[in-house]
Amino acid sequence: MERVGSSSAGSDRVNFKFLAVRSPQRAVNIEDLRELARRRLPRVVFDYIDGGSGAEFTMRENCRAFERAIFRPRNAVAAMECALGTTVLGTPVDLPFLFAPVGSSRMFWPRGECVAASVAGAAGTIYTLSTLSGCALEEVKAASSRPVWYQLYLLGGRDAALDAITRARAAGYSALVVTIDTAVAGQRERDVRNGGSELVSGDPLKMAPFVPQLLARPRWLFDFFRDGGLMKFPNVVIPGEGPMAYEDIAGALERSTVSWDDMGWIRDAWRGPLVIKGVLTADDARRSLDAGADAIVVSNHGGRQLDYCAATFQALPEVVEAVAGRAEVLLDGGVRRGSDVAKALCLGARAVLIGRAYAYGLGAAGAAGMMRAVEILRADLVRTLRLLGCNDVAALDRSYVQ
Ligand SMILES: Cc1cc2nc3c(=O)[nH]c(=O)nc-3n(C[C@H](O)[C@H](O)[C@H](O)COP(=O)(O)O)c2cc1C
Repeated sequence: MERVGSSSAGSDRVNFKFLAVRSPQRAVNIEDLRELARRRLPRVVFDYIDGGSGAEFTMRENCRAFERAIFRPRNAVAAMECALGTTVLGTPVDLPFLFAPVGSSRMFWPRGECVAASVAGAAGTIYTLSTLSGCALEEVKAASSRPVWYQLYLLGGRDAALDAITRARAAGYSALVVTIDTAVAGQRERDVRNGGSELVSGDPLKMAPFVPQLLARPRWLFDFFRDGGLMKFPNVVIPGEGPMAYEDIAGALERSTVSWDDMGWIRDAWRGPLVIKGVLTADDARRSLDAGADAIVVSNHGGRQLDYCAATFQALPEVVEAVAGRAEVLLDGGVRRGSDVAKALCLGARAVLIGRAYAYGLGAAGAAGMMRAVEILRADLVRTLRLLGCNDVAALDRSYVQ
């Protein structure tokens, strides 16, 4: 039995909450799905999703910034129906939240990226596929009934990136998302402790001390081997070598820094809507506009890159003001509740992206877990709108928050 021991050492209090949450259908909020993911995944995989960089200050601040924003409801005006649909880059979506790129989703659940794309499509929203995915981009596009975006890292050099861009265009991806906050990978201390790089090294001696955490999760281990074992990166094809191996990623990331100068050739190669992800200041917002961005994602990578930078909800007004309607502004980081979605929209975001909120669901129970995550956020958003006295996400504005 689970016991609550965090506040009083040796406590005998039983944690009834998590006894009750045995299946995703019983999950009441995203935190419940997080707990289910923690129980199914090996520590190294769970912490890869759950953790941030450094002291994890920015990761926590992303959530706290939403908590500090206080609503100003209009009462006795509630309508029965609430409109949640909007458009993003001209594409109609049924929900004002999209799925952020989450690398290595195939480690959370067999064929994770295809499963995630299919759930996003069924929910009527957009899935963004990370460069660092385990499923081929063509299969992922085919798995969704709705538009899909491709997130680009310049991994493997310009030729590998051009190859991915060409494939994404041919497969029918509708926007290219260039992530600019990953000059080097953030120092994720939990990954270091859990032997994240040793476990993918292929060296049995290095791996041995960290293997027990995998053996402690037999259900996950079974799924992992059923899905072919350690994934490669089929969308990072090194000319003459083939798909990049997992253990090569850390070094490749360091050599793949994107700069503003790269945006020219990326735009020329892509010739479609361009989204720049990882903007936190007015300066970078203006540079993104100069680089031809059609949309900007206010993002700090979920607190996984530079620690002690601003929470995204805090940075949002500065970016919205600088952009002044010349591009769409999206936000990600810390969205765990429908009320967070509403707050971001009040401050001028066109829509938000969710990362961990769906990754926990995927790790907990695959498609069922992700569908539950979507349902939790959707229901909470509707409830929030009705209690706010606003029946359309398009009508949310600053007057609804202090
Ligand atoms: C496990 C994990 C992997 C991620 N991988 C990528 C990635 O490959 N590319 C990228 O641009 N962002 C990546 N991100 C960042 C997300 O796209 C998004 O910015 C972040 O998750 C938002 O914060 P949230 O998790 O609090 O919602 C990743 C995030 C997580 C949690």
